[in-house]
Amino acid sequence: KKGADPRPPSNFTDLISTLPLEEGWAPLRIRKYQGFWIPERVLQGIMDMQQNFKARPDDLFVLSYPKSGTTWLKALTYAIMTRSQYPLDHHPLLRQNPHEFVPIMGITYAKGEASELEAMSSPRILNTHLPYSLLPHAIKSLGCKLIYVCRDPKDVLVSRFHYNNRMRPQAMEPIPFTKAFEMFCEGNCPYGPIWEHVLEYWEESQRRPEKVLFLKYEEMLGDPPRIVKRLAEFMGCPFSPEEEKEGVVEEIIKLCSFDKMKSLEVNKTGKLRPDFVLTNDSFFRKGGAGDWRNHMSPEMARKLDRITEQKFEGSGLTL
Ligand code: A3P
Repeated sequence: KKGADPRPPSNFTDLISTLPLEEGWAPLRIRKYQGFWIPERVLQGIMDMQQNFKARPDDLFVLSYPKSGTTWLKALTYAIMTRSQYPLDHHPLLRQNPHEFVPIMGITYAKGEASELEAMSSPRILNTHLPYSLLPHAIKSLGCKLIYVCRDPKDVLVSRFHYNNRMRPQAMEPIPFTKAFEMFCEGNCPYGPIWEHVLEYWEESQRRPEKVLFLKYEEMLGDPPRIVKRLAEFMGCPFSPEEEKEGVVEEIIKLCSFDKMKSLEVNKTGKLRPDFVLTNDSFFRKGGAGDWRNHMSPEMARKLDRITEQKFEGSGLTL
């Protein structure tokens, strides 16, 4: 039950070994912590972060359920924030992966590198896949701005399925899609259940719209200029009429587009860190909406849609 776990003791590993374990996403192991399934390898880092993260009032947080468009949102927010610092045709995003500019806080803490976050100059853009209820308290009490992106759960599952199978050593059989589907529907999926994750941010965005911006991946695909302008306004750095006339919005969209990012050398062959199992190309697979049609039967799709409708009923949110 949410919130029922004891406070993490100083020796987190004792607590972690007692948490429910799901091994169906091997090589990932996930444990249920305060209502959500968190990858075991970052759990200690997350507990450390929950207790010790020092937020700054001007921090901006990019938040998501994994596989919902995080990499894209990181690129867009970073490009928007730094647009006057770098010419867009020589932008650092052309040489480095977006995750290098917007660190995944749980991983940074898990690696014992929290001081790197301290060393970042303000305003920082930071990322976590934690649900709202598990965010470090300081982020909420300081009123930091949060940007959340969600995506059709059917496409999230397909994206997760491929991403996870890429983590498997060659000798390991891929997870059967039907098994991934069942685990996902049960909520037993990294950072799951997805519905509670999305709803927590949705509700917070209704309560505090000036601080929590709620975006949908499909809307971003459908009307990038509107979303990019909305992002810049929310971030407090709206485009000037001159910038709009000069086509800065379009340039940012092009720089961060799926085809552009996927084609960059750093994203074809690079790696975020030498000990990371995945190469950067795993963040850029198909990049569209509706790939679920190639993976699930109409019955499976209906079942997943029904769960989503039931979970979101009365919330005002539709996907
Ligand atoms: P697919 O696996 O369906 O292709 P995340 O960044 O949260 O891990 O989400 C990954 C999904 O976002 C992947 O979806 C990936 O292809 C897609 N994606 C990555 N960069 C993108 C971009 N610039 N534009 C649109 N989609 C992008």
